[in-house]
Amino acid sequence: MSDLKALLTQIRDTFRTEVQSVTTSADAENLRVRFLGKKGELTGVLRGMGALSPEERPIVGQLANEVRAEMESAIDATLQQILTSEKEAKLKNQQIDVTLPGKSFPTGSRHPLYKAIDEICEVFLGLGYSIAEGPEVEYDYYNFEKLRIPKGHPARDTQDTFYISENILLRTQTSPVQVRVMENTKPPIKVVCPGKVYRSDALDSTHSPIFHQIEGLVVDKGVTMGDLVGSLQLFARKLFGENTKIRLRPHHFQFTEPSCEVDLTCWACGGKGCRVCKGEGWIEVLGAGMVHPGVLSGCGIDPDIYSGFAFGIGVERSAMGRYGIDDIRNLYENDVRFLRQFK
Ligand code: DAH
Repeated sequence: MSDLKALLTQIRDTFRTEVQSVTTSADAENLRVRFLGKKGELTGVLRGMGALSPEERPIVGQLANEVRAEMESAIDATLQQILTSEKEAKLKNQQIDVTLPGKSFPTGSRHPLYKAIDEICEVFLGLGYSIAEGPEVEYDYYNFEKLRIPKGHPARDTQDTFYISENILLRTQTSPVQVRVMENTKPPIKVVCPGKVYRSDALDSTHSPIFHQIEGLVVDKGVTMGDLVGSLQLFARKLFGENTKIRLRPHHFQFTEPSCEVDLTCWACGGKGCRVCKGEGWIEVLGAGMVHPGVLSGCGIDPDIYSGFAFGIGVERSAMGRYGIDDIRNLYENDVRFLRQFK
């Protein structure tokens, strides 16, 4: 009996030492298996009890129970401690500092050309115009013929473009949209038509083979040149400031009569003359005129009843003036360092 008691005490002492060095929940479980499992050390002792006399058995049994109880509670307590500190460590690791600044995602912005288009269209929308669009790949018929520029006409020379086939081309102007609108709509008509146009020009600081125009068209009974001047004056003031003046110079376009080119007082010097306006005090921004009677009748509108005016605004010119951009190429290179300035 004393052998068994000594063995029990020895097992208990070993356990007490070993439980001290348990640091993980896996260690604790291993310890439980080693001492209390089916093949564990304590179980081995209990098996040996069968050889004891009936008087000795309860004495050793009691000690064995005490040892087992001590082991079980020590393992449970250790395990609890470990789980708590493991949880704490995990929480500490995953700590979120809600006061840290958020991650910022770069946001884009509207391209200055499209900002200018929006701003210009906004002025005309305020005057009751609506927006019309037409194809960039256009028939020669709409781009030239219907605007009284037949094949071989010298007016074509200034608008050389990219041909898809003999009769299909990249439009050189937004004016064909006028024709498409007049063919499909009865007067009164009041539209602006923004969009890309193409010419086979070499790229330099003021020219690009792709650029933008905004066409304007008003057709109704009794529309006069005075209406055109009033509308353009408003456009000039709204976009370039209240003191901006406009100047009309006689010009020739095949599809308007009379025709004019329209200058604005220079946005850089206000009209005194500077480098931007090459000393002129004025900058040309658009072409305009009264819609030619031949164009009206060609679209099924009776020129004896209706009259109209039209204009074509150069968007790049306007945007460069409005935002102080001195090289047109900046507008097409998509360099974010440039674009960022117009946020
Ligand atoms: N389409 C002409 C151009 O690209 C500009 C223009 C002039 C448009 C007179 C018009 C207009 O509507 O009436 O040079």
